Amino acid sequence: MKIRKINVHLTEEEVDARIRELGAQISSDCGGEPLCLICILKGSIFFTCELAKRITAPVELDFMSVSSYGAGTSSSGSVEIRKDLDGSIEGKNVLLVEDIIDSGRTLHCLLDLLKKRNPKSLRLCTLLDKPDRRVVDVAVDYVGFEIPDQFVVGYGLDYDQKYRNLPYIGFVETEE
Ligand code: IMP
Ligand code: MG
Repeated sequence: MKIRKINVHLTEEEVDARIRELGAQISSDCGGEPLCLICILKGSIFFTCELAKRITAPVELDFMSVSSYGAGTSSSGSVEIRKDLDGSIEGKNVLLVEDIIDSGRTLHCLLDLLKKRNPKSLRLCTLLDKPDRRVVDVAVDYVGFEIPDQFVVGYGLDYDQKYRNLPYIGFVETEE
């Protein structure tokens, strides 16, 4: 498949404005306690950086890289950890930061795995949510935007590892 066109769905200004709102809400929910942000590489890198700047609580950053498997092998699938966190999350307030929730499989597995490490609290924030595509239930605490079931790129999201650097979020138009 070749990309014919990328149609802007959310402008840089719209995304930035929403991230400021999320940052304010998360800051108020933290009550000044430190917060450990977990960035799921690579897609949520841009979102995590911008969100972290809008949170007023003391923020710690850690990074994790996973790949999802198992769409055909079980209903919830499984994840392989490619890069684990550098530090322990035991006793910490943790916010998992994701670019997009699609089927929900990745997040479902990841939340299960992180809960076993005994954080004080574990919440989930996603920039984008495609609720129509959900296969596995995931409790999401903060959602930037709900979008329809169409493939998007930009602001960290890729098509074949490209277009992550677009400052906006766009729908991909392909030609066969
Ligand atoms: P899930 O396990 O099906 O929820 O998978 C979520 C992952 O699929 C995201 O972290 C993205 O890497 C990828 N993904 C899902 N939808 C899109 C999209 O529209 N554009 C780019 N990546 C996507
Ligand atoms: Mg991803």
